[in-house]
Formats: sequence, structure tokens, C-alpha cells
Amino acid sequence: MSLTVQPAKPSIGGIIHVDSDHLLDDETIETVRHELEHRGVLVFPHLHASDELQLAFTDRLGDRVNFTRKIPGSDADTPDVYKITLDRKLNSEPDYVLGTFFWHIDGITIDQPLPKATVLSARRLSDSGGATEFANLYAAYELLPEREKEELENLRVIHTVEAAVRPVHGTPTQERIERYRSLAAVMEQPLVWTHEDGRKSLLLGTHADGIVGMPGAHGRALLTRLQQWAAQPDLVYTHHWTPGDLVIWNNQGVMHRVVPYTDEGRVMHRTTIAGTEKPGHVASESELQRIYAMA
Ligand SMILES: [Fe+2]
Repeated sequence: MSLTVQPAKPSIGGIIHVDSDHLLDDETIETVRHELEHRGVLVFPHLHASDELQLAFTDRLGDRVNFTRKIPGSDADTPDVYKITLDRKLNSEPDYVLGTFFWHIDGITIDQPLPKATVLSARRLSDSGGATEFANLYAAYELLPEREKEELENLRVIHTVEAAVRPVHGTPTQERIERYRSLAAVMEQPLVWTHEDGRKSLLLGTHADGIVGMPGAHGRALLTRLQQWAAQPDLVYTHHWTPGDLVIWNNQGVMHRVVPYTDEGRVMHRTTIAGTEKPGHVASESELQRIYAMA
């Protein structure tokens, strides 16, 4: 078998046509490992993988992460497969899913190595909306002017789950804040992440709430501007799903979001591959208060 990866766009995305019988072959797995570093997101059209096959593929690439032990909405039958849907019968907390309408990196507000990759398969699609957009954060860094790279090099960013859900809930109730804090940590992450292999990428997303040592408005403005920079059209691949598609992306170098949808029939199955590198650490609550107290 000869496996070819067809670029989706020059800076991001690749399409791999392979039969589901060959998804776990050594050649497929090696190709995925290699291409994830460069293409950022890989699409297997019409694969129609079962949960069993999706989990086996996940296991071939690394250790599984099970967020569902902490995030409500899990399914006791397949606890390592998280169902992304607005259907309350399948996911007891669909509000959490609304946060995926905004740019984010999976697991960045959890005190653990940053998940290496996310696998998503389309089970049922919405009539409108529901495409997933992916932005290459390695390329976003690479394309910055040299002077700006130097200015950003040592900045540290506070990421919170409150910031991630603020666009969903506005000002959340105290009860909701406490519930989300029980699920996630306030994390301090580098703005420019130098990976173990020496490559650099930006760490950005709606969960980025402020920059250490910088007045709140200045930090938020810089983060907003960089997020817009990273989401420039040439660096974004938009996947318009067809039934049975399976997509895997490099969660350490790609941010993603879904085009809003309201259809409760849309169901995606997600599995997650653990990372080994941990760029950040837990921050104190007072760090964020200090940022916003600065004139
Ligand atoms: Fe996500």
C-alpha cells in the first residue's frame, strides 16, 4: 500500500485516503505522526470508524486522555469517547459544548501535559453550521516580524476556564464559577512555546485571560490581536464534514473552533491523545487580580 497525503492548503491541512482496514497499519501510523507536525490537521474522508477502531487508532498514537471523568456528559459505556452534541440525552452539559464556538486549544486549562492530539469523527451532522476551523499556530509564529518575535519571546499568559465560557454565559454565576474551577485550573502558559524539538508556536485561545506583568487591557488587546493574526485565512483550514469523516489534529500547534450550529442532532465522537510536554504551570488566582489592578 502506498499512502499519499494531499495538502488541503499550503500552510495547513492534509487529506489521507485510506481504507478503515488499513488505519492501524504501521505505515499509516508513521505517516500520521510525521504529517501532524507539519500539516497540523489530517482528514480521513468517509472512514466510518467505530468507537472501537477510533480508540485503537488513538492508542496506537499514544496514551488516552479521559476528560470525561471530570467533565459532565460522559457515557458510562464508553468513558474514553466524549460525545460532542447539544442533545441533552447524550451529553448532560451541552453548555460546555457551546464554548467550542470560540477559538481554543483542548485541555489548556487543565494541570497536565498539553494533550498531543485530538481525534474527532462525524456521526450525525447538522443541517447548517458545524464546520470546524483549524488555525496553524506554528505558522502564525513563524510569519511574525522578527522584532515582534523578540518582544513576545518571554511573555507569560494566564488561561482560565472563566474566560473560555464568558462568551457563552456573560458573567457566570458564582455557582457556575465554582463548578468550572473544580474542573480546571488557572494556568500560566508561555505565549511562545519552544517545544522539545526546538520548534516554536504560539499558545492562544479564548481562554487566554491576561498577560503577566502587563495591565489587563494591554494584555487582552495583544492577545486579541495575535488571535486575529493567527486566524488569517491562509493559516486556517475549514473542514466541512461529511458523514463518517475522521479528523485528527495536532492540539499542541493548532487552535480550533466550530461554526455555530443549533441542531441537537449533530453528534461527534472525540478521543484524545496525551502529550508528554507541559509548557505551563498552575498560577495563583491573585496573579490575574494583579494584572487587572494595574493602571
Ligand atoms: Fe475542542
